[in-house]
Amino acid sequence: MTALEAALAGLWLMVPALIPNAAAVLLGGGTPLDLGRTWKGKRILGDGKTWRGFFGGALTGVAIGLLQIAAASKVNLDYQQIFGFGSWPASLYAVLALGFGSMIGDSAGSFFKRRLGVERGAKAPVLDQYNFVLGAIVLVLIVRPGWFFDHYIQGNGLLGLLLLLIVVPLLHRGINIIGYKLGKKNVPW
Ligand code: CTP
Ligand code: MG
Repeated sequence: MTALEAALAGLWLMVPALIPNAAAVLLGGGTPLDLGRTWKGKRILGDGKTWRGFFGGALTGVAIGLLQIAAASKVNLDYQQIFGFGSWPASLYAVLALGFGSMIGDSAGSFFKRRLGVERGAKAPVLDQYNFVLGAIVLVLIVRPGWFFDHYIQGNGLLGLLLLLIVVPLLHRGINIIGYKLGKKNVPW
């Protein structure tokens, strides 16, 4: 595997964790996850984290991951090794962990924002950009540690993490501007 392939694979395999955030903006709304409850005078998560957004986002990420698994089975064995999620059903568990871990990380980010007194929708640099990828990585490390090791540590895997570090904030910003223009978000961040 070349350095370029490793970096691109790192990005490709994280797609099921990158989709949920954008999907939640489109599908979200309705009952908040915290049901409006507060803790020490502040909302637990706030109105920006809804059940529809959580499950709509996570399941959209999983659905895209399943398409990626199907696509990987069509390419030659070398590329399957690099861009595949592994053998079925381990690949399914990885994709589930990425999709749901992403939305758990997103919710955890809001939990910390509320504790710090940051209002719903207000900026929290770094936290807003990386919370979902971090959540995905943590959940994958819990359910599929070997998967993470194989794709993001071994060989040139760290290059994938490096590329994510650069691309994720750009993607986050771009998607939020689109969400804002579509009238789905009140602020372009
Ligand atoms: N969204 C949702 N449910 C989720 C996550 C997101 O409904 N679990 C929707 C909400 O409409 C939210 C929008 O997607 O306002 C943008 O998400 P995000 O920027 O993560 O939320 P914020 O509104 O900025 O709230 P917070 O300050 O808690 O991050
Ligand atoms: Mg926000």
